[in-house]
Amino acid sequence: MSESNAPIAGAMEGSNANRGLWSSRFAFILAATGSAVGLGNIWKFPYVTGENGGGAFVLVYLLCIAAIGLPIMMAEVLIGRRGGRSPVNSLRQITKQQNLNPSWRLVGAIGVIAGFLILSFYSVIGGWAVSYVGTAATGQFTGQSADAIGAIFSDLLADPTTLLMWHTLFMALVMLVVAKGVRAGLERAVSILMPALFLLLLAVVGYAMTTGEFGRAVSFLFQPDFSKLTTAGVLVALGHAFFTLSLGMAVMMAYGSYLPKNISIAKTSIAVCVIDTGVALLAGLAIFPIVFANGLEPGAGPGLIFQTLPLAFGQMPMGSLFGTLFFILLIFAAWTSGISLLEPIVEWLEEQKGMTRITSTLGAGFVCWALGIASILSLNLWSGFAPLGWIGMLEGKTIFDLLDFFTANIMLPLGGLLVAVFAGWIMSRKAMEEELALSKPMFNLWFVTVRFITPVAVGTVFVYNLVGA
Ligand code: PHE
Repeated sequence: MSESNAPIAGAMEGSNANRGLWSSRFAFILAATGSAVGLGNIWKFPYVTGENGGGAFVLVYLLCIAAIGLPIMMAEVLIGRRGGRSPVNSLRQITKQQNLNPSWRLVGAIGVIAGFLILSFYSVIGGWAVSYVGTAATGQFTGQSADAIGAIFSDLLADPTTLLMWHTLFMALVMLVVAKGVRAGLERAVSILMPALFLLLLAVVGYAMTTGEFGRAVSFLFQPDFSKLTTAGVLVALGHAFFTLSLGMAVMMAYGSYLPKNISIAKTSIAVCVIDTGVALLAGLAIFPIVFANGLEPGAGPGLIFQTLPLAFGQMPMGSLFGTLFFILLIFAAWTSGISLLEPIVEWLEEQKGMTRITSTLGAGFVCWALGIASILSLNLWSGFAPLGWIGMLEGKTIFDLLDFFTANIMLPLGGLLVAVFAGWIMSRKAMEEELALSKPMFNLWFVTVRFITPVAVGTVFVYNLVGA
């Protein structure tokens, strides 16, 4: 990360030459939360939960967050802080100091590629949110039936030109911030906007309670019915835990490199996990009562929030105002996540290829944007095109579905697995004890998790899915 782009460069007396540190523990939490809380929580969590039958899936997802996500987040942050540089160079630095195999920096490379692929479709969905600001502001949801609101959504998807326009705008927003390095301002904005988003979600949950189906939604989300859970569902739950916490692509490593030494990695990581999970569960509680009250399909897929929330905004008092605000806040949440997806690519181009920040942002942004066109076309002209459909578990998956599947369910868990193996088996234990500064039993708990539990769990889920494919 170049100095100009140092996130909330507070105290400049940082330990590494010219690198600012986060001004406080709160600043780190804000930035990490800005990356973690995004479309994954509000758009993806409800729809994958709906597609995978509810309660049992949610339970596995929560387990994955606590037993795999949190320990890996701690590992990423500690590696970043120890290395004190960009992910690739942090890994290189640690491997050099400890005479380890330098190929470990490939973890950073996975991150660059995954970020690139994720951002290409993430920006398309971000574009949906941009488009819905206008729809909400002009009162088009007011008093509409579920069918009419469903039609607004399907009309949007059927129109590649409009989708392209909003995708372009979203990508431009992300590129602007990455190119100019004005992250500091944006991340400070997060401290106001995230709580605002939280409050608005609460307002929708309040509305959802009046639909008469709140109880049914609660049992759908929290009463596990294991007969509904498939092997593939477990993989999706695992993949989503990585996706929603921004793990497995070295984002938290990059952010950790700015964390002052005296701040507890465990406590801050727990805070980020709790906030992220809270937002996702709240989104679920907002959406599913509306789904049941209107006879909609929980497994409706990626359009779920765009077909349900507008119904709530169409019926509640001052719904147009709330709806407009909600989609604006959703854009902000997606924006801060989008920035953290593009940043590693740009940083890598700067460091490895010696390009300037502007050129690398323009180059990487353009390629991401162009790839996004394939996702746009998957929603309409190419909706019947399933390039890898002959592989059992990929049947019927469009390019958009495949990009989502490979990044979230394969690349991120793989990246996370490598981080766990690096921390659990390669890196010096003493260095990690120093960084984490935990009590002996707590350190051991963490250590056993990254050394054994995480690799075995991720490995088992992978193998089962391969066998079943
Ligand atoms: N965590 C973000 C979300 O939930 C997405 C993301 C994934 C961001 C990986 C950065 C890295 O929307």
